[in-house]
Amino acid sequence: MPVDSAAREILAWYDANARAMPWRRAPGANVPVDPYRVWLSEVMLQQTTVAMATPYFEKFTGMWPTVEALASAEDAAVMSAWAGLGYYARARNLLACARAVAERGGFPGSEAELLTLPGVGPYTAAAVASIAFDEAAPVVDGNVERVMSRLFAVETPLPAGKRELRAHAAALTPTMRPGDYAQAVMDLGATICTPKKPRCGACPWQGRCAAFAAGNPERYPLKAPR
Ligand code: ADE
Repeated sequence: MPVDSAAREILAWYDANARAMPWRRAPGANVPVDPYRVWLSEVMLQQTTVAMATPYFEKFTGMWPTVEALASAEDAAVMSAWAGLGYYARARNLLACARAVAERGGFPGSEAELLTLPGVGPYTAAAVASIAFDEAAPVVDGNVERVMSRLFAVETPLPAGKRELRAHAAALTPTMRPGDYAQAVMDLGATICTPKKPRCGACPWQGRCAAFAAGNPERYPLKAPR
């Protein structure tokens, strides 16, 4: 698949349809994004929806506007601000990571170095590297897996199919606006390429989608029987 034209199509869609979120810049705007805000939002979004995470994001950035401020917070204050988001291990990891970042004088600027921070896994490292630092790191979450499974009609069921889905996602990731591209694919999965009743008529990739061509997008991603 021609990477540049596929990216251009979804970026044009994103420019017109991006969901406004407090940690995002306007689509296409060439202004720096604060890695602290991207990291914080991505950690929160790993366990909850955008609607649920947003007030927590506002509360955290209000109380601790920088990673240094968060690093200096009392453990108990952070745990109590986190209350309601669940998975308290994540709040502990958040603090450990903030302290490691403050200690080294700021967020590292590459996916590989981000991966060395406590509690930062492949998803978060790729998301921060692409959204904050414009590195062409493939960002793969459940939404992206579903989009790839349909676009390429991947017949290997999950979880074994993850490798193949990741390879497709990596091959499609452009060097042009990789952060906007990553968020565009996630938005597409959240709003158009939904698990049930996808709105294929509104999809910028309809013309390239193997599952749409076969007439059965909802069949993907296949899941191994349990
Ligand atoms: N899900 C997790 N992170 C996201 C982001 N930055 N944009 C859209 N959906 C997301």
